[in-house]
Formats: sequence, C-alpha cells, structure tokens
Amino acid sequence: MPLPVPVLPEGVDPAWLPPAAFRSVGGRRTLIRGSGPLVETVHGEVAEACQRFGGRVVRDAVPDGAYDLVLDLGGDDLDAEGFAAVREGGTTTVTASGGRGLLYGLFHVVRLGEAAFTGGWAREVHRPALALRMLDHWDNVAVHPVMGQVERGYAGGSLFWEDGRARRELERVRAYGRLLAACGINAISVNNVNVHAAEARLLTDRIGEVAEIAEALRPYGIRTHLSVSFAAPITLGGLPTADPLDETVRGWWAEATRRVYEAIPDFGGYVVKADSEGQPGPFAYGRSHAEGANLLAAALEPFGGTVHWRAFVYDHRQDWRDRTTDRARAAYDHFVPLDGEFADHAVLQVKHGPMDFQVREPVSPLIGAMPRTRLAVELQVTQEYTGQQRHTCWLGPMWSEVLRFRIQQGSTVGESARGGLVAVSNVGDDPFWTGHPLAQANLYTFGRLAWQPDADPGAVLDEWIALTFPDAPARLADGLHAVLDGSWRTYEKYTAPLGVGFMVQPGHHYGPSVEGYEYSPWGTYHFADRDGIGVERGVTGGTGFAGQYGTPWAELYESPKTCPDELLLFFHHVPYGHVLKSGTTVVQHIYDTHFEGVEEVEEARAVWASLAGLVDPARHARVTERYEEQLRSAREWRDQVNSYFFRASGVPDERGRRIH
Ligand code: GCU
Repeated sequence: MPLPVPVLPEGVDPAWLPPAAFRSVGGRRTLIRGSGPLVETVHGEVAEACQRFGGRVVRDAVPDGAYDLVLDLGGDDLDAEGFAAVREGGTTTVTASGGRGLLYGLFHVVRLGEAAFTGGWAREVHRPALALRMLDHWDNVAVHPVMGQVERGYAGGSLFWEDGRARRELERVRAYGRLLAACGINAISVNNVNVHAAEARLLTDRIGEVAEIAEALRPYGIRTHLSVSFAAPITLGGLPTADPLDETVRGWWAEATRRVYEAIPDFGGYVVKADSEGQPGPFAYGRSHAEGANLLAAALEPFGGTVHWRAFVYDHRQDWRDRTTDRARAAYDHFVPLDGEFADHAVLQVKHGPMDFQVREPVSPLIGAMPRTRLAVELQVTQEYTGQQRHTCWLGPMWSEVLRFRIQQGSTVGESARGGLVAVSNVGDDPFWTGHPLAQANLYTFGRLAWQPDADPGAVLDEWIALTFPDAPARLADGLHAVLDGSWRTYEKYTAPLGVGFMVQPGHHYGPSVEGYEYSPWGTYHFADRDGIGVERGVTGGTGFAGQYGTPWAELYESPKTCPDELLLFFHHVPYGHVLKSGTTVVQHIYDTHFEGVEEVEEARAVWASLAGLVDPARHARVTERYEEQLRSAREWRDQVNSYFFRASGVPDERGRRIH
C-alpha cells in the first residue's frame, strides 16, 4: 500500500517541498518496481503528485516505452543509499539497490524538474560521500529553567516534546522527516546533549516515546538516536558507580541497550557529552574518554549501533588571569593521545572549530590528527552565534570552506569525516520551521553538503530557491540569491573582528558586549588593551596552539606575517597599527568593516522590500520584521565595537565617520 504523504497542519509552511515542486513528476506516467517500506513511501509521493497534476503511476509492470519515469529497486549494486539515473528513448530511469536510494533518486528527479524529462542524458551514479548525515536536536523534554524547551533554539518549541511530555504530533514529525530526506539527512538525535533528569529517562522507562518518533521518521529513511547521560547507571539504575570498567556498569548498559533495541530495532545509537560543561563522564573514575566511549560502543555493537562521543571537553572554570591555559588547545590535548583506542562502534564527534561555532574560526586541528579514529564533524545550523535566526546569515559558504579545507596529508575535512557530518538543528514548532523563513536555506544546505561536501554552495542555494519558490520569476530568484549569498560575510563584518570571536552578551549570546566574556571562567578572551588585541597562540611566545596543526598550517599560522587576515586575532596579539595583508591597519579594518556591514544589511533589507508582491505576504512580513531587528542589532554592534576600539586605541577613523 502506498504510504500517504503527511498532511501539514494548517498554516505550516511546506518549506522546500511545496506541491508545485512536484509538477514535472506529477504530470507524467511513472512505473515503480520493487517492494519494501520505502518503496511505499516513494509510491505515495508519486501518487500524490499525480493526483494533483494529472499523471499516473503503475506498480511492478514491465518497463516499456509507455513510461516517462521508471523508479526501479533492484539490479544495480549501489549500496543502500546510492542511485543511478539515465534518460534514453524518452524514458528517465532511476535504479537503486536500497529503499533509501530509491527515495533519494525520486527527490533527485524532483530537483531536476523539467530537465529530468528533457532530451537524453548518460547514466550518472549518485552516492552520498558520508554514510551518516545527522541532525542533533538540543530539545529538552521538560522546560529547562534557563535554556527553555530547546537549548539554543530560535524557532519556538520542540517538535517532539512539550512541557515534560511527548507532543505526539506525529504527522508533523513525519512531514519533518520528509523534508530531511529530501535534502539527504538520514539520522536524528531527539534530545539535548545536556541530559537533565526527565530527558535521562528516555533511555529507560520513556523509550516508548522515542519509539513513536522513530516510527514516524522511519518511512523517510531516518534512524533515531538518543543523547544519554554517562551517569545513567547511577541516576537510573541505582548503582553506586558509573565506572566504565566496572562489570555491573557494563551489564547495566548492555541490558538497557537491549531494551532500547526491543523498542526500536533500527535504533541508531547514543550521543554523549561527557566531562563537558558540567556533564558527568569517565574522569570521575580516573578513566579515559576512550574507556568511556568503548563502554557504550560495546553495548551497542551487538545491534549495529554507534556511540557518538563528543570531543567538546575543556575547562569551563578557567581563571581569566591564567594566560597559559588555552581553551582552543583542549580537544586536541585530551583526545589525540587516545588515537587508535576507540572501538569500531565509537565515533568521536568534533566541533568544526577549536572554540565554539563562532562566525570565524580556524578548522579544529583535531580533525587532522586522529587518523586511526572515526571522526564525525559537528556544525551548528542553529544560529547561536550567527544571529539567532533574527539575522539573515546563510552559512553555506562557511561550511563549504571548512569541508574543503585540506587538513592532513592531502585530505579535506569532508574526507576526514569518516564518521559523518552532524549538525545542531535549527528547527522548532514554528510555522516556518526555522523562525526566520530564510534560515530554512541553512538546514537544506547542511543536508546537501553532508551528501556531497565538495558541492558548490552557491549551486545548493539556487537549488533551495528553485524548490522553495517553484514559480519564482527571475527577479525573485535573483533577489533571494542576493540577500543570502553574502550574508555570512556581512554578519562577520559587523560582529567580532578578524577571527577573535565572542564579544557577545553572556548567557543568551545575542547582541554585542565587547568585554562580556573577558573576565569570565569560559576561556573565551580577546585581551584587548590600549595597545592591541588578539590571542597569542603561536608556539614561540604563545600558547602553542598553532603547533597542533600539520604542515603547512602550523608554519602559516605561526607568524602574523603569513597568518590569513581573517584569522589574525585568533592566532596573534598585535598592535592596532599592525598592517594587514589587505593594506589597512587592524583598527581601521575594524572601523571599515563595521560601517560596511551595516550598509550591507541596509542594502539587503531594501532588496527584500523590493520583493514584496513576489513572495507570499506572511513570509514577506516575517522576513521584513527580522530585517528591522537585524539592522537595529547590526548598528548596535557597529557602534559598540567601533566606540570600544576608538576609546581603547585613541586612533581616529581615517575617513572621519561618526564614532561615539
Ligand atoms: C555551546 C552552547 C551550549 C551547548 C554547548 C555544547 O557552548 O552555548 O548551549 O550545550 O555548546 O555544544 O555542548
């Protein structure tokens, strides 16, 4: 039986799957061959499109000239997720050897639109570069007194949880799974990495609630994972210890995991934040993080699951007076000595930068330094430090730079991420899913880059535009591209300069506060004084962080002469008069970029205003309102940052602009 396409609740935006995106497929004669649950999903998709656009769909006949599109499961050896597509003799044929592959093949045809049925073209094989393409939801089950329902969530409540209970709006969860599948995502973790009391119980007596979500997502090829607490044997099991080498602890995890698989046979595995920002971990028992991770890997292995063990381990109670401790070093220092010690079913999940999802960071040197460990790279789609979905900030170019960066022995970050690409989701129960309607582009782009890390992000953006606005006149498509394409660099211009990071308001992290974290325990300092700014991270005279890179990066970052401008203050403390490669001084660069950044927001806002009438009124109004806030906030950033550095340095703007 074909699986009906999920019905969106009234008022919920179809995002990149509006009915019109299926026009080309829906007007054609399609033959579907094969069996299995995902084939029923594919059938349901095509049947719905045909009903709307007058085509027809047949199952399991012999392919002959009577069909425009054949979706054929079986035959080709393309792994579970790959597919091949060819067009000859007036028929487009997609073959796959797994249900997911067939579903991805269908969405490929949808993306191609009329081009899928035009002319003839040679057989192309498509396979995801990374087997795991995952979203981590930082959703709490109970509302957390400080972090709320969704930690760092800017799109309303959680799709899964509300005020301590499961929401059970499974039709919407299904619709979510469908959107994720259409951009290639195949795994999701349904609760926050900071596992509080109510959330901990999802592992045990509340696993049934997770199973319901898993069931809703399964028809779209998405496996469900769970964040768990390392202390669960104590807090849930009543044991006196959570020591990873203790036999009763091992037995407890084995049994708990067996029950999880009883409820969710295709369960993906665990996500663990241990010894990080107050979460429990193996350090309490004098054990290593490999011993901690391997405990869970051993419990998951018999069922084919994986533990995603996060490398975000650093001292969050640092003394700001102590200039020798460098948070940027921490992940490397903790984990590199453990290379080769992690079990097969453990993946070490590393944030893409050494600090914490800033608008500009170097790539984490850990990614190039653990060749004998399966690493997953973690990005942040939720815009904690990039405008919190009030600012338009499309992160495609940043992620693409990270993924294409050659970190070790000729391998890019994308190639080194053998354990997959993971991102913190930006989705909530908001009618536009992501609060800011244009932030949908970030989620879509993440999925597509996880499928193909070396894809051209600009092309992915255009794909998102074409799907989301299927009948867009050129002026609309161009306008959307214009406001999104450079928006990350615009954001960078009016916020913390030259890779130095932070300068945000403490706690919620929205808006400027130049010294907000300067005298805090979090290890996020810029050391600005009357003479200069930046963190000295060279091997000579610095914290030695630059030495964690291999060739050529260690040498390049070591000297302010060779360090790229955009990372200069991440690696070096320099005088305000230091001349950048661009020819301007550091302080003048700060002034210039902050004025420019605000001007660019003004321009983008004007472009958006000119699109009124081409975009549906609700979406247009929502984005307009966000641009007002973005402009207000950008001006605040400009004025605080410029005034701070003018007062600190005493150096006037060479162009005489107004600095307060
Ligand atoms: C950031 C974020 C936290 C989050 C943490 C993490 O520090 O502000 O809310 O818990 O990252 O990735 O674990």
